[in-house]
Amino acid sequence: METRILGDDLKVTSVGLGCMGFSHGYGKPTDVDEAVKAIRAAYEMGYLFFDTAEIYQGINPDGTTNYNEEVVGKALHDVRDQVVIATKFGIAAHESDDLKVDSSPETIRKSVEGSLKRLGTDHIDLYYQHRIDPTVSPETVAGVMKELMDEGKITHWGISEANEDYLRRANAVCKVTAVQNRYSMMFREYEDLFPVLEELHVGLVAFSPLANGLLTGQIKQSRFGEGDLRSKMPQFTPEALKKNQDLLELLNEIAANHDATPAQISLAWMINKKPYIVPIPGSRHLDRIEDNLKAGQIKMSAEEVAQIDQALDDVPMSDVFGGTRVEKK
Ligand SMILES: NC(=O)c1ccc[n+]([C@@H]2O[C@H](COP(=O)([O-])OP(=O)(O)OC[C@H]3O[C@@H](n4cnc5c(N)ncnc54)[C@H](OP(=O)(O)O)[C@@H]3O)[C@@H](O)[C@H]2O)c1
Repeated sequence: METRILGDDLKVTSVGLGCMGFSHGYGKPTDVDEAVKAIRAAYEMGYLFFDTAEIYQGINPDGTTNYNEEVVGKALHDVRDQVVIATKFGIAAHESDDLKVDSSPETIRKSVEGSLKRLGTDHIDLYYQHRIDPTVSPETVAGVMKELMDEGKITHWGISEANEDYLRRANAVCKVTAVQNRYSMMFREYEDLFPVLEELHVGLVAFSPLANGLLTGQIKQSRFGEGDLRSKMPQFTPEALKKNQDLLELLNEIAANHDATPAQISLAWMINKKPYIVPIPGSRHLDRIEDNLKAGQIKMSAEEVAQIDQALDDVPMSDVFGGTRVEKK
């Protein structure tokens, strides 16, 4: 299995599994037993890196809360020492469109205990601040991370949607292993952050690497089920689907040259771009989970990656959901 190192020493598979969709964001949660089986099957097929978060929650048909961390913890309980589990703190309200950030030390302390319990583990391998809290300094958050490391509750930490200034200040207090930022062929803003990631030796875990599924080329309509956030995403409006046709055509051509799928090419492009980029595509289907993992085996030369970048610069494409513009100093 292809592996890579995040930060100084966190060994992960070159593709990780984004587990959010089993509980949150894409309509009704998957039945818990089915989700546990699917995540376990992902481990059996070679995934060693799993992504979840405190706020990934949904409601089960019986009205109970579906905690994604519990599902992930159950699936991996007996192979715990062989896998890297990443989770996140710092977003207080999960059902509001308006994310409420809270990274006060007291809240982080409560969050870590809750996550450890739901995951059924005594340590978290990679603990991300889910969003920057403008009321708490990076030094304060990094200080708490240092304490949690000293206590053995976490072994590495990271920041989601990090900008350069915050990353530098946080890293000066406690070594940051990875940033987890939105990054895909449709959202390349964080390429501006590459020099600082290289300087500080910090990995980039790419979330929504398939632009929430658009880059798979398999979504042909703008209607989604109840509770599916894609119905509000700008890349899936009827106009956007039309506008993105040339982009999907480009992906199909590259995919045909590699005897691969558009999803695999979307992932392979970033894996081949930098040795410290690790995408974490999410899927609830085993065939797709397997397809995505195999993207780690596709080789592209630096020249081909550069040609794709150029083509992406030129091809029309719609806006894409979310993402924070990189703040430059
Ligand atoms: N840090 C953050 O703020 C943040 C934000 C969002 C997400 N995340 C993390 O990133 C992970 C991935 O992001 P994401 O789920 O938002 O977006 P994504 O991985 O870009 O796209 C997921 C969508 O693509 C579909 N899909 C995946 N592989 C496919 C394939 N091979 N062929 C066809 N369709 C495929 C999935 O549908 P099916 O399930 O039907 O296959 C799902 O609808 C999440 O699970 C979560 O762990 C983090």
